[in-house]
Amino acid sequence: MAATQEETFKKMVAHCKEYGFVFPSSEIYDGLGAVYDYGQNGVELKNNIKRYWWDSMTLLHENIVGIDASIFMHPTVWKASGHVDAFNDPLIDNRDSKKRYRADVLIEDQLGKIEEKIEKEVEKARKRFGESFDEAMFRQTNARVLEHQEKWNALHERYSQAMNAMDLNELKQIILDEGIVCPISGTRNWTDVRQFNLMFSTEMGSTADGAQKIYLRPETAQGIFVNYLNVQKTGRMKIPFGIAQIGKAFRNEIVARQFVFRMREFEQMEMQFFVKPGTEMEWFRYWKEMRLKWHKALGLGDEKYRYHDHEKLAHYANAATDIEFLMPFGFKEVEGVHSRTNFDLSQHAQYSGKKIEYFDPELNESYTPYVIETSIGVDRMFLSIMCSAYNEEQLEGGDSRVVLSLPAVLAPIKACVMPLVKKDGLPEKAREVMELLKYDFKTSYDEKDSIGKRYRRQDAIGTPFCITIDHDTLTDNCVTLRYRDTMKQDRIAISELHSIIKDAVDMKNLFKKIMG
Ligand code: GAP
Repeated sequence: MAATQEETFKKMVAHCKEYGFVFPSSEIYDGLGAVYDYGQNGVELKNNIKRYWWDSMTLLHENIVGIDASIFMHPTVWKASGHVDAFNDPLIDNRDSKKRYRADVLIEDQLGKIEEKIEKEVEKARKRFGESFDEAMFRQTNARVLEHQEKWNALHERYSQAMNAMDLNELKQIILDEGIVCPISGTRNWTDVRQFNLMFSTEMGSTADGAQKIYLRPETAQGIFVNYLNVQKTGRMKIPFGIAQIGKAFRNEIVARQFVFRMREFEQMEMQFFVKPGTEMEWFRYWKEMRLKWHKALGLGDEKYRYHDHEKLAHYANAATDIEFLMPFGFKEVEGVHSRTNFDLSQHAQYSGKKIEYFDPELNESYTPYVIETSIGVDRMFLSIMCSAYNEEQLEGGDSRVVLSLPAVLAPIKACVMPLVKKDGLPEKAREVMELLKYDFKTSYDEKDSIGKRYRRQDAIGTPFCITIDHDTLTDNCVTLRYRDTMKQDRIAISELHSIIKDAVDMKNLFKKIMG
């Protein structure tokens, strides 16, 4: 992360705490690694993200229904899904600092450093050549760039091969050959690389009963797969159809960092779309496009998204892409769209001994459906929104403000009602205005401090509208409506407030953009 971006990121994290968005878990006991609590504003924003996703799935697609499966599942589920045997990260310890790292992350960071060197050369040249700079030509011909690129290609190739074969010795050798040092101790005193299963386990039942080892689910998807038949039969669903779910997932991440980007307890929004074998590529393309439209409709900036198509696929997948968002620490995965073939349903059929198929009345035959999965982390979505919304603005007259330019539909509070003074019947009038709005919009009331301070408090939590009640309001039934982003103020009749706010925060407008 560049120094200024790193500083802004740190300030954003501090802001999240100061304004009740995110707190470290169990903070009075000094916190718990990579576990966070959402505060009074954070939970509203998070709930709005979840509603935006849930409604976009279940309202816009009449063939998608939802479920809410339990976190605990039969242990064989995780054997069948492959998580017991293969949900591993390769880890390595530094003997001097006693710190543990993911071997793949150390190597990816090394690749990132080479990329940074290339970008530095490009930036230097851009400054030197100004308007006439031909970036593509420079990248193809500059000797230093080509040298770095060659190094990157060689390392990437070696790393990919080692990861595909899960060759732990080779991963360690790469770390040694690249001279990668521990960021804490600065030494190369590394242990061997070992596999580390990311699932948390616990025991169900008392030992006397014969306690059973069970896992906290590392993804919500398996709750959908094991309920495929229940939903298909009871909902009389016809293929193609989807099942959506939002819920907690748990992973014992070795490298937990970048705030809520990589957590040990997090929330996923997943949808499995069951299709006829042979049509999966068409549906994969459909969902890839549809999900990007969902992101872009929020208006955070189209240039902040990109696809990252996977070249190397998991053994059960025949296509996969990530939707990446430009965070202060680079483009990072926020969502995955995967074509998972019939792997999961077939595995569960095999392990449970139950027939898990679909009888297709048009073909008059049964088959195991193929699955397209869309899988997004609520917390990563939250982070991407916060990173793009956090702004420190210099104002005219030397003043400054911190404003969260959140999409109005997601803002925790839609409007704050403020009597100019705490007397003369203004608080009572303000309460009347709140009464008109509060059943449809999350509204707050603030009568403390100067009006300027109150505006700043609302800017800091991203409230799109402030409504000020003054003495004239008592006679003309008009208020001052102040807009967060422009800070413009309009005199508006109280009777118009509801429709102005509704227009700005109605999710329907986003849904029309997605479907339009
Ligand atoms: N069912 C497929 C699945 O779980 P994944 O790529 O492992 O795929 C999907 O996870 C999404 O879940 C990611 O794109 C990310 O947004 C989120 N996610 C995964 N691990 C996470 C973690 N440790 N902390 C926060 N979010 C995470």
